[in-house]
Amino acid sequence: MMEKRVYADYNATTPLKPEVKASMIEDLDIYGNASSMHASGRLARARVEEARRAVGTLLGSAPEDIIFTSGGSESNNTVFAAMRRLADESGGGRRAFITTAIEHPCVLNSARYLETLGFPVVFLPVDEYGKIRLEDLEKALSDKTLFVSVMMANNEVGTIEDIKEISALVKKAGAFMHTDAVQAAGKIPVNVADLGVDYLTMSAHKIYGPKGAGALYVRRGAPLFPLIHGGHQEDGLRAGTYNNAGILGFGKAAAIAAAGVQEYGRTFSALRARLRDGLFGAIPGIKINGHPVDVLPNTLNVSFPGAEGEAILLLMDINGIEASTGSACASGSLEPSHVLMALGVGPELAHGSIRFSFGWGITREDIDYIVETLPPIIARLRSMSTMPVHA
Ligand SMILES: Cc1ncc(COP(=O)(O)O)c(C=O)c1O
Repeated sequence: MMEKRVYADYNATTPLKPEVKASMIEDLDIYGNASSMHASGRLARARVEEARRAVGTLLGSAPEDIIFTSGGSESNNTVFAAMRRLADESGGGRRAFITTAIEHPCVLNSARYLETLGFPVVFLPVDEYGKIRLEDLEKALSDKTLFVSVMMANNEVGTIEDIKEISALVKKAGAFMHTDAVQAAGKIPVNVADLGVDYLTMSAHKIYGPKGAGALYVRRGAPLFPLIHGGHQEDGLRAGTYNNAGILGFGKAAAIAAAGVQEYGRTFSALRARLRDGLFGAIPGIKINGHPVDVLPNTLNVSFPGAEGEAILLLMDINGIEASTGSACASGSLEPSHVLMALGVGPELAHGSIRFSFGWGITREDIDYIVETLPPIIARLRSMSTMPVHA
């Protein structure tokens, strides 16, 4: 009998969609250098530009405003490094940065690095649901603020920030606005013009595309400098020979995602509710982390008082269920999740929290399997624990 496996860790990464995989296998034969002038180069280039149009369509942007990168981490690092250079070169009074306490490590650590170089950085707190308060942002903004980065949707708890309102405040203060939309794009509608952002980050491998491909949207006229210096690719803003298959797979994934955002919302809100209600009915004392309404349809973060997260993961894995205790990049760390701590979940409860994240491929039967499998695991861990169940 085939062992049952339920993959519920789509926020860490997604499998390639079969159509994306099939087209990438073909794309591997598009070997021309997309910067070459001959026919092979022109063919590769035409396909790269087709992918750029598809990514632009997903984000409501003109294709020319999309820069291909190696992924979300590079896009975020690029925009932080560019702002640092802008602050240095302009020599003016705007040198202050604002971000939030719940960003992905590639933003948090970019901001911390700037702090070590002497730039003022504010890490905005969030409320108990993971939203920043607009009053806090207003207080932090000044005529010294150069750049604000607030993620569109959180990878651990799924909370969706009010980016449109945040952008409006940032623009009023004369600063540049960036959002990390790696977890939002393809899951909820994302439109750069409507959001009013100057920069937006996305990544292919969260939308059933390949790992190692991503994009940075740059509003026309917004300043940018390269992180990777070299050739003239991407208008001199991101050097390096085009990763044909990666970019083409990204384009295919973006086109599929753009056509399916509404269906995604309907499908996964229903599965999320099924898991939430099933777990509430089966396990006493649990708590849901994240915003009750403004939340990604595919993300359910649950605290299990009296049980330890790593142990839950291990026992779930033995029973064929794959989830996560937080972001995949932070796993292996013994520190409680910085996101849950920022939401005010105490360290004990934060250590007993699991992120379930769904995507295409997971079924109602899979959700029911999680609901059946988890209660004895939690009961077993609670019976061995000295931690209180009603934390
Ligand atoms: C919110 C967020 N930003 C950025 C990243 C990094 O993207 P990539 O893996 O493409 O570098 C991730 C990936 O986990 C993420 O969830």
